[in-house]
Amino acid sequence: LNCTLVGAPVDCGSSQLGCVMGPDAFRTAGLKTTIEALGYAVHDIGNVTVEPAQALPHANDAIHDLSEIVGWATALEEAAYNAMQSSDLPIFLGGDHALSIGTVPGVARHAAEQGRAQFVLWLDAHPDIHSPMTTTSGNLHGTPVAYFTGQAGFENVYPPLQHRIDPANVCMMGIRSVDPSENEHLAQCGIDVYDMRAIDERGVADPLRRFLQKVKDANGVLHVSLDVDFLEPNIAPAVGTTVPGGATFREAHLIMEMLCDSALVTSLDLVELNPFLDERGRTATLMVDLCASLLGRKVLDRPTRSF
Ligand code: ARG
Ligand code: MN
Ligand code: MN
Ligand code: MN
Repeated sequence: LNCTLVGAPVDCGSSQLGCVMGPDAFRTAGLKTTIEALGYAVHDIGNVTVEPAQALPHANDAIHDLSEIVGWATALEEAAYNAMQSSDLPIFLGGDHALSIGTVPGVARHAAEQGRAQFVLWLDAHPDIHSPMTTTSGNLHGTPVAYFTGQAGFENVYPPLQHRIDPANVCMMGIRSVDPSENEHLAQCGIDVYDMRAIDERGVADPLRRFLQKVKDANGVLHVSLDVDFLEPNIAPAVGTTVPGGATFREAHLIMEMLCDSALVTSLDLVELNPFLDERGRTATLMVDLCASLLGRKVLDRPTRSF
């Protein structure tokens, strides 16, 4: 099997600087050798770059860096599609979560050409389901899910969406910070949302098993988008949007181990790592270890269980 690393140092989707260093922090934490040790051939294509663009106006004055985000979306859609064609598992190294505005449509284009349904597992404290009209922060990393599920409001703002993700094919886990307009949209769009309360009551295994069964039954392929703030801030401080009460070390590893056993994951975003906020690299190292669990690092050499 082969794995491709694609650096996506976008940081204008958030209000805090630092995610631009994310891809290099993943490299410094040894992502490539870690994955190689699991038997993969790893190719790091370096960082995607974008040309400076003319400012784009928008009726919502809060929005900043729209033209840069559109540039990233276009470049990353193409990079993701290309990586899917040459690789068994592209990993997109963020960069803030605005990178999913490009990577998800890119992997969905590849899935559509293969005649497979594209599913998305969104591991995040936030649903990131704002439209350009509803965001009050103006930080466009809060918009990717609304865009790639085909919500209204993106016409003539982001690139035209060619391959929409059916909201019924999206599952969110770890949610614990939702803006009022996002709540309204989530209530009626049909995305499976397991917030932290649901995880407290049910754990992660049962909800995840249900979702993976759905992917399997549809002969689908699965993109995983892992935001650092999905994790409890005490174990993962290197993120600009910490919210207390996140997933524990073991919950996060269990999710990755079950994803590994399912053999359904075909692409992965690692987003929102802000190395400027890290402590001796511990968040970057944890993210690399989670990635290792997803790619097959095992505690015991026992036969793979079904999820
Ligand atoms: N909902 C908030 C906003 O729109 C926070 C978004 C945080 N998103 C993220 N990808 N960390 O500003
Ligand atoms: Mn392929
Ligand atoms: Mn996010
Ligand atoms: Mn988040």
